[in-house]
Amino acid sequence: MAYIQIPDDEKGYKLDLFCVPKHYEEDLDQVIIPHGLIMDRTERLARDIVRDMGGHHIVALCVLKGGYTFFADLLDYIKALNQNSDKSVPLTVDFIRLKSYCNDQSTNIVKVIGGDELSTLTGKNVLIVEDIVETGRTMETLLSLLSECNPKMVKVVSLLVKRTPRSSGYRPDYIGFEVPDLFLVGYALDYNEYFRDLSVSSLHWRGS
Ligand code: IMP
Ligand code: MG
Repeated sequence: MAYIQIPDDEKGYKLDLFCVPKHYEEDLDQVIIPHGLIMDRTERLARDIVRDMGGHHIVALCVLKGGYTFFADLLDYIKALNQNSDKSVPLTVDFIRLKSYCNDQSTNIVKVIGGDELSTLTGKNVLIVEDIVETGRTMETLLSLLSECNPKMVKVVSLLVKRTPRSSGYRPDYIGFEVPDLFLVGYALDYNEYFRDLSVSSLHWRGS
């Protein structure tokens, strides 16, 4: 499946070319992926997903918290497709919270916090919506948990995939962008809960 590759030597854009909240100006380096590009890419991911999964009822499963902005935007595009074509697909939503990060380090322990009983997904076509795949451990853990409840089909869409030697080799079914091995924030991606309120862009945090 095709995706946009952001090269390792990507310079990005200077912060002062965009509207960045004052309280983050000091902490950020550059804008790596402008919001408009995220939206345009998301629109196409929605089209690809509906093409592949659109024959059946889809349960869109949002991986909180980082996935929520991408989830909302992706679903808006899927809904727009539903509203404007002869074919349409029923869509329901579910939410799960996983945590694998402490400060800016991915840890070995993936915690599942809250969410509905996964058994409600039995027999369903499940679309897992994630913000970023780094080592792949979070997604592999979730996929193995899900497989115990026998869904009909499971596809994973991740807005971002990091190019990193720490990767387990896991690749999602749909990828928005492949990004360098940097710590990215904004568009709901956080650093210890900060930067989620940076909706305009996805940014490289200076501290990494
Ligand atoms: P993995 O298990 O190593 O693939 O980590 C995936 C999770 O770590 C993602 O769902 C994110 O929540 C978090 N994460 C990984 N890289 C970044 C980053 O650059 N910025 C913010 N969160 C990240
Ligand atoms: Mg996440």
